[in-house]
Amino acid sequence: MTNLATCTIGFIGAGRMATALAKGIVAAGVVEPERIIACDVSASAAESFSQTTGGRIAGDAAAVCEAADVLVLAVKPQHMEAVLDTLAGRIRDDQLVVTIAAGIPMARYLQRLGEGVRLVRVMPNTPCLVGASASAFTVGGSAGEQDARLVQRMLESVGAAGRVPEDLMDAVTGLSGSGPAYVYVFIEALSDAGVRVGLPRDIATRLAAQTVFGAAKMVLETGQHPAALKDAVASPGGTTIAGLEALERSGLRTAAYEAVRAATQRSIELGRGERH
Ligand SMILES: NC(=O)c1ccc[n+]([C@@H]2O[C@H](COP(=O)([O-])OP(=O)(O)OC[C@H]3O[C@@H](n4cnc5c(N)ncnc54)[C@H](OP(=O)(O)O)[C@@H]3O)[C@@H](O)[C@H]2O)c1
Repeated sequence: MTNLATCTIGFIGAGRMATALAKGIVAAGVVEPERIIACDVSASAAESFSQTTGGRIAGDAAAVCEAADVLVLAVKPQHMEAVLDTLAGRIRDDQLVVTIAAGIPMARYLQRLGEGVRLVRVMPNTPCLVGASASAFTVGGSAGEQDARLVQRMLESVGAAGRVPEDLMDAVTGLSGSGPAYVYVFIEALSDAGVRVGLPRDIATRLAAQTVFGAAKMVLETGQHPAALKDAVASPGGTTIAGLEALERSGLRTAAYEAVRAATQRSIELGRGERH
């Protein structure tokens, strides 16, 4: 199984992330919609998945497992045990299992499905819904290089993806998994600040969001260090350096350290089963 185009991709859980992934894979021409199959306990989620992606709907997880070459587990973490109950003893050697559930370590899947299962654990983020995800993945069980390449290709159809060792998955969760929320708060704050200095709300929000988008694009496309790009905007005695001075005084950098550290720690706690 080296060619995604000839794989049947099965999704257990056909919610938001499964729909976004399947839609991205189909839109990128990586897989034909006939090769997508999914199931969901919610009939409306299944219906919406099918309409959005063109994929087929199966009656239950066992049927998806039977049909799939690549089996994507896309239920919420609290529903994963029930799914693993169904899948235990059913996974074939020729199948690749991909889980996108936050927080559950690979050892848990291997314990339930067998140590020899080919397993990839993925941490995507919600911009997956608009084809701009930042995902990290880690490879375990009997999964090899070809499996890693296949998952990388799948994830790149909805954004950027990179491989990390499993012990970095909590840090990935703290940075890119939770990160969209930090950036939304920053955009909202910029918008509020724009309104404070007299801009109409709709203009302020659009300018704020486009500024974040443009700056991110500059970092990604020029390959320049963010500090060099920042220096290029800040002319001596100008407006930007005055703004930067105020940002530094307000502790923006420290706030970023604290946010990523707190979310990483929370991911570690959730992985240990500490729910509160
Ligand atoms: N959204 C994110 O930001 C994000 C980021 C990274 C990773 N993830 C991970 O992605 C996974 C899916 O998240 P999501 O936001 O797509 O969730 P979602 O929209 O709630 O989709 C999950 C779907 O699975 C269904 N389901 C529950 N138990 C099932 C079972 N036994 N068999 C089949 N279907 C079942 C749910 O139905 P009901 O609603 O009726 O329970 C729901 O329709 C989660 O594990 C999450 O940790 C999400």
